[in-house]
Amino acid sequence: MKDRDKYDRMRDIIYKGNVVALTGAGVSKESGIPTFREKGGIWDRYDPSIYGSILGLSSLFLFKPQRIRDFIVDVYEGIISAVPNPAHFAFAKLEEEGKIACIITQNIDNLHQDAGSKRVYELHGNLYMERCIRCGKRHKRSKEEIKGILDFLKSARRYEILSKILPKCECGGRKRPDVVLFGESLPQEEFEEAYNEVRNCKSLLLVGTSGVVYPAASLPYLAKEVGATIIEISPEPTALSSLADHTIIGKAGNILPKLLRRK
Ligand code: OAD
Repeated sequence: MKDRDKYDRMRDIIYKGNVVALTGAGVSKESGIPTFREKGGIWDRYDPSIYGSILGLSSLFLFKPQRIRDFIVDVYEGIISAVPNPAHFAFAKLEEEGKIACIITQNIDNLHQDAGSKRVYELHGNLYMERCIRCGKRHKRSKEEIKGILDFLKSARRYEILSKILPKCECGGRKRPDVVLFGESLPQEEFEEAYNEVRNCKSLLLVGTSGVVYPAASLPYLAKEVGATIIEISPEPTALSSLADHTIIGKAGNILPKLLRRK
């Protein structure tokens, strides 16, 4: 099929409305944030069994806090300096036009919201939020605050690292970044609402995710079960490609703007 016809067909599906998007790290790659599992990605450079788990991170805090510091500075700097790319803006436009019902994202970088998307379910948390481990209260952190923390950490002494990364809450407990680590539960309400959105959607746009992390990766199976049309946009096949009714090979920032209808 010619490219033009293919995009026309995709636009026809999307412009019927009630589209849910499930997004992952690939959507933010063109903003300069590395993905996880590609070559040079975060889990390619940092062992996920250590840096992605509470057990691994706790033992690093005790024995090698400098390594956590280096990891946090590396990952956070990439995220706080990033701005939305054409894919994020295309999603926001489709929502504004009433075509996209919501975005369900595994990303913690806030770039969908920065681009103007309103209904965003964050399954793996948000880097700009912290949560008290004791009282559960959540606090927002600005880019400037995080920048200040990173600058401090770069020259921090060993004993200063923990208190900067896990600062004290008013209740006396320690606050941690409100992101989901391996083996931890997803925010329950967020996941339930995302689940209901998928259960009621007409089509699911799968963009920039390898589809190997559950329960997020179970959502396309639910979409299939309820008869939704699945469109995948990815530069390479993923674990979910066999579910897709239509696949568009390419980068999100190139493809998504082409799915907008010109007035
Ligand atoms: P992955 O790194 O597993 O997958 C990224 C996907 O994006 C791959 O399939 C790439 O081919 C694709 N990709 C790369 N560049 C792209 C582009 N320009 N446009 C579109 N797609 C592109 O990242 P996720 O699937 O998001 O969880 O990973 C899921 C979860 O694993 C993350 O949320 C994180 C990680 O462990 C937690 O930390 C809990």
